[in-house]
Amino acid sequence: MRQPLVAGNWKMHGSRAENANLVTALLDLLPAGKHAEILVCPPFPYLLETGRQLKDSGVQLGAQSVCAEAQGAFTGEVSAAMLKDVGCRYVLVGHSERRQLYGESDALVARKFVAAQSQGLVPVLCVGETLDEREGNQTLQVVSRQLEAVLSVSGVRSLARAVIAYEPVWAIGTGRTASGEQAQEVHAMIRARVAALDATIGGSVRILYGGSVKASNAQELFAMPDIDGGLVGGASLKADEFARICAGAG
Ligand code: PGA
Repeated sequence: MRQPLVAGNWKMHGSRAENANLVTALLDLLPAGKHAEILVCPPFPYLLETGRQLKDSGVQLGAQSVCAEAQGAFTGEVSAAMLKDVGCRYVLVGHSERRQLYGESDALVARKFVAAQSQGLVPVLCVGETLDEREGNQTLQVVSRQLEAVLSVSGVRSLARAVIAYEPVWAIGTGRTASGEQAQEVHAMIRARVAALDATIGGSVRILYGGSVKASNAQELFAMPDIDGGLVGGASLKADEFARICAGAG
């Protein structure tokens, strides 16, 4: 039985005061005794403070990116060891905004995945196709390529300590969500590819859906057999909306 995971990706939003209010409200609203695991990913400068506020709440802390290098002269970068040091358990790798706006290649994403795991962080590997790729019937090919880039470097066993997030680029921040069936098709393909290499890991790896997840569509998505929760951007900045999404994950 896979434990659902709902992750909030705050992106480059918030301030110390706004974050404190958001977390206070969220902790108040989160349903007690729920089964799903909840994660928030604030911007780097706020990790320590948000982590302190989350202490003993059961809500996990994650970062939005990580440097592929361990340490050294890499101005502006943040290492996996630093993220671990400030209390992170998870880190997003290969978010489409990193791939598209900052030129992160499949190979770099794979190195970041390795760097995260080397420090005991759980990478949330984001994959997904653009609108052109979907319209060109390349969805499964693109997602497979992104997945293989990590598998070829890390091996299938590494997925026992990772999460995958399928995020169609055309659905991110656009208000346009994949339907449950559209998402399920890709999730099933991802799981089948992993299962072909290792049936146990294929059955246990959590695959999240991301892209305009809201309280109004979360339940339809989470009801799909291979969707194990969500990676939520915009809606994770509103405590009531995010809490309702979390409640919908079981
Ligand atoms: P969105 O973002 O929920 O605002 O579409 C999702 C994401 O980028 O992870």
